[in-house]
Amino acid sequence: MIECKDIVKIYTNGGVETAVLKGVSFSIKKGEFVAIMGPSGSGKSTLMHILGALDTPTSGEYKLDNHDVSSLSDNELADIRRNKIGFVFQSFNLLSRATVLRNVTLPLVYAEVGADKRRPLVEKALRSAGLDEDRWSHKSNQLSGGQMQRVAIARALVNNPSIILADEPTGNLDTATGEIVLGTFQQLNRDHQHTIILITHEPYVAQHADRIIHIQDGKILSDKKNDQKRIVHSHPEL
Ligand SMILES: Nc1ncnc2c1ncn2[C@@H]1O[C@H](COP(=O)(O)OP(=O)(O)O)[C@@H](O)[C@H]1O
Ligand SMILES: [Mg+2]
Repeated sequence: MIECKDIVKIYTNGGVETAVLKGVSFSIKKGEFVAIMGPSGSGKSTLMHILGALDTPTSGEYKLDNHDVSSLSDNELADIRRNKIGFVFQSFNLLSRATVLRNVTLPLVYAEVGADKRRPLVEKALRSAGLDEDRWSHKSNQLSGGQMQRVAIARALVNNPSIILADEPTGNLDTATGEIVLGTFQQLNRDHQHTIILITHEPYVAQHADRIIHIQDGKILSDKKNDQKRIVHSHPEL
């Protein structure tokens, strides 16, 4: 479903070239839960931008669902982002004065889903993300951090994307709340077969995935099944 072959990304600033990704290759199958782990500056966000069709590589090939994404125009990339990718960010990126329901509905508006079809999709996404129904009419700035991240996860799910890309999704949460959010990803992967790519600099966070791709200095250091997976058993309300 995802195939990266020899991905290179070079930034040029004031005539100086910096190679940030130096030939990265891997593939990810439908239904996998993979962590991409590496220290700050190793190229994780650069790779996430390429996987998320926010940017294209300098060279190399990226195929998503058999489409070659590495050579698309900006409009075509926007189309892939709207239809195939759900993003979850460290800083939640919600509209703070809009309600939970409105935040989760917006991707459907952009994808031009008919008004009468939206509500059941929004409810399904919020239930999958584990956000209690009595919060749905709250404005997002009235929620706790963990609840906000669940809204962001619901927003990422609502278009039924091929992959969910989460960049440091627990970075702004305390450890206990982060653990609950990681449990939500595990449940989405286990019970709904969502493909999840979790980007993190913390080994502890990566331990929640089934496979860990370790990157350093723009190269893959190792790519292994995680034999010490930390499973979050409960799915408590936040
Ligand atoms: N637009 C850019 N121009 C030049 N260098 C960049 C640019 N974006 C990122 N970099 C550099 O690329 C390296 C990797 O950055 P990044 O992908 O954000 O790493 P990570 O997410 O792992 O911390 C860093 O050294 C960063 O300074
Ligand atoms: Mg980063």
